[in-house]
Amino acid sequence: MIMEQQEIIALRETVEKTSLRHIAFIMDGNGRWATRQNLPREAGHRAGADNLKSIVRLCGDIGIHAVTVYAFSTENWKRPALEVNAIMQLLDRFIAEAKASNDENGIRYVFLGDKSGLKPALAAKCTELEQLTKDNHSLLNIALNYGGRAELVHACRQLAERGGEITEADLSAALYTGHCADPDLIVRTAGEYRLSNFLLWQAAYAELYFTDVLWPDFHFADLRAAVEEFSHRKRRFGGV
Ligand code: FPP
Repeated sequence: MIMEQQEIIALRETVEKTSLRHIAFIMDGNGRWATRQNLPREAGHRAGADNLKSIVRLCGDIGIHAVTVYAFSTENWKRPALEVNAIMQLLDRFIAEAKASNDENGIRYVFLGDKSGLKPALAAKCTELEQLTKDNHSLLNIALNYGGRAELVHACRQLAERGGEITEADLSAALYTGHCADPDLIVRTAGEYRLSNFLLWQAAYAELYFTDVLWPDFHFADLRAAVEEFSHRKRRFGGV
């Protein structure tokens, strides 16, 4: 894909004029993308993982240094073992590459979700990557074995153990996303119009953007369309 540097600069200028600092993606449509090309579903996830890398890079280029993606939900274990294993292998490879390129890309990786439900070796690699990259300036949150309701229950249990008064700020801080601000924009690809248990608390004032484009086909022009749409939204946060 040929990308005009000027287009990136123009979009960065658009971003600067908005409150857009954190984008979350529901990367839907990998399976359909593969099926349309007579490929196994796993090939769609592979293309999706590759696209994730380029979208994160593009987000950084346009001045968005916090990205959250929904990689694997608590419900995704219901999928065939072959597909689940393929996604876990992709994650394994993704983590290895992220470790290898740590010095160049400056990304801090944080995994949102219950690591105890993962294979111990993968969970350890997630923690290792988090530790290795903890001082980097850009943020990529990867929701893995994540469910928004489970996250709220987990946070409430922690707060109940602590005891005392509970404020909204306390609850926000006890979530897996306690280290970052809420997303300003949530993008869902592949034509579904729901949150599917993603960032339920954090989505309270996020702008939502839905597109029919399948995740592996979501490129610069699609990101620009989402950002431009966001730039026209009036965010009132309950005010007038
Ligand atoms: C939804 O598409 C996508 C997923 C459930 C998995 C997303 C996983 C990746 C992009 C790759 C692994 C992630 C990383 C961070 C390396 P779908 O399978 O539901 O698509 P469909 O609705 O067309 O069937």
